[in-house]
Amino acid sequence: MSVTVRVPAKVNVQLAVGAARADGFHDLANVFLAVGLYDEVTVTPAESLRVTCAGPDAGQVPLDRTNLAARAVELLGARYGRTPDVHIHIAKDIPVAGGMAGGSADGAGALVACDALWGTGASRGELIEICAELGSDVPFSLVGGAALGTGRGEKLEPLEVGGDFHWVFAVADGGLSTPAVYREFDRLTPDAPEPEASRVLLDALREGDAGALGGAVANDLQAAALSLFPSLVDTLAAGTDAGALAALVSGSGPTTAFLAADAGSARLIAEALVASGTCRTARVAGSPAAGATVL
Ligand code: C5P
Repeated sequence: MSVTVRVPAKVNVQLAVGAARADGFHDLANVFLAVGLYDEVTVTPAESLRVTCAGPDAGQVPLDRTNLAARAVELLGARYGRTPDVHIHIAKDIPVAGGMAGGSADGAGALVACDALWGTGASRGELIEICAELGSDVPFSLVGGAALGTGRGEKLEPLEVGGDFHWVFAVADGGLSTPAVYREFDRLTPDAPEPEASRVLLDALREGDAGALGGAVANDLQAAALSLFPSLVDTLAAGTDAGALAALVSGSGPTTAFLAADAGSARLIAEALVASGTCRTARVAGSPAAGATVL
């Protein structure tokens, strides 16, 4: 018997970052939007805990206990007195590049899959708590849709989305370390104000207004990501030149996100990005997308 769960990638349409806290994390106003690029995580009872991964970027995925999917199953097992003897298989379609929460998606997917396999009876609230232990972005991978994340991003308030938004993601050649990007943010922003969600942006999401959303997207980590990965400036310019309504670094990068007016425009922007030679590949995705779903 196996259980398979489908989990989406995300883009941060607003990432407002405050000053570093005593615990090293940063308070955020993090507006998450789930996008239609998915990993599928399958769990099957096995002799011992094991992770495998298939997909174009599978070679870059750690298969040891540092994989959030393995840690999710261990945490759930520890809570419910089960030995985590399962084979976790990840069919990976979310680019492994940073900034799209692919690792977080696998953590949430494995948790929901194993919970169904074992029939623990855990409440959704408990599962979200375990997600928060795994990482700041993991609770959102479970709930999907759109949400405002506060605290270090793990306290979620669902947001209404009044229409579909079309995105292009440019996958960079190379990576960025999230802690290094936050450190660079601290260096560049010695007096960061309290992070606050933008009313204009929340209204644009609720109204499904792509033009207004394009004018309101903002990522406080962008300057830090560009400082550490300067060639992303060229990627952003290539997408803007191709007609994107907005171009921004996704999360801590180095993936860049481009909002398009419609599906046709998204395809043209993706083609232009690939032709520009400023990224490894480009992917088109719609939003919002559902959270972790048992198939
Ligand atoms: O929570 P997660 O493990 O995804 O965080 C990875 C790193 O990102 C943290 O160790 C920290 O350096 C940085 N971070 C932060 N503030 C947040 C979220 C992440 O400083 N709100």
